[in-house]
Amino acid sequence: MKVFSGSSNKKLASKIAGKLKLELSPVEIFVFPDLEKRIRIQEKVLDEDCVVVQSASIPPDENYMELFIMIDALRRSGAKSIKVVIPYLGYQRQDHIFREGEAVSLEVIAEILKTVGMSEAYSFDLHSPKIPDVFSVPLHHLSALPEFGVKIKKDFNLDEIVLVSPDMGGIRRIKEVSEMLGNIPYATIVKNRDLTTGSINDSNLDGDVRDKTAIIVDDMISTGKTTVEASELLVNEGASKVFAFATHAVFARDAARLLQHSRIERVIVSDTIDVPVYSLFPKLEIVSISDVAAEALKQ
Ligand code: R5P
Repeated sequence: MKVFSGSSNKKLASKIAGKLKLELSPVEIFVFPDLEKRIRIQEKVLDEDCVVVQSASIPPDENYMELFIMIDALRRSGAKSIKVVIPYLGYQRQDHIFREGEAVSLEVIAEILKTVGMSEAYSFDLHSPKIPDVFSVPLHHLSALPEFGVKIKKDFNLDEIVLVSPDMGGIRRIKEVSEMLGNIPYATIVKNRDLTTGSINDSNLDGDVRDKTAIIVDDMISTGKTTVEASELLVNEGASKVFAFATHAVFARDAARLLQHSRIERVIVSDTIDVPVYSLFPKLEIVSISDVAAEALKQ
């Protein structure tokens, strides 16, 4: 097996290769003055099983394009199979038509990946469990939640915590973590929306967090708004402390500043996305999912 990395998350790609007792295989990514890229696989891959690691983090279009071209280069060089690890699957929130006239962007991505030569895909904590159905090649749905479960067990007194889903959509996730930790209590934030505009009128808490350490668990933090607003509600409802776990540190706009200046004690994310230096902040902690990815690739 040979492991190649795109430019979005080389740190994670090296870790995955290391767990497979391999070094990253060389690939030349040349950027032209107009920002087009030329990609050349610098090793023989004829009849080899190849893996490409590339996260569709910011900037998603650029990272996807680089991935498409890398897969094409591997296919043309005679690779036997091309497994693609997309730790954070960009465009996954556009997996069906919400309003008439929209595109199903995730299906476009899935079709291109298959057309250029992807054999199988691996991704983490997908927004909806139905997303693999959009792909016509196998998409293995992996999770950072077991790693988070281990960390929660190690760092917290389970008798003092309550897990919190910041919205109804996250209940499945929160139940999973609760079960992992011996069915510890959980609460959910219920958002009441204006049915015409879709905007949130108010939020209520379903569950009890008084005098407890509240641990928010979510799939992603993008602008940070959901997590920070959830933390404020939890403090108002009497939580003694608030921590936040999220698989994907998308960190759009000034999420890092918002999170650092919030009531949250610590923000724990996984390394599905390589957080750029300008988005690192003192309260941030990063847990690696490289073991999970490597184990899945061994199957
Ligand atoms: C929502 O359904 C997701 O699970 C996240 O809660 C959301 O995408 C986070 O976005 P933001 O950080 O921009 O509030």
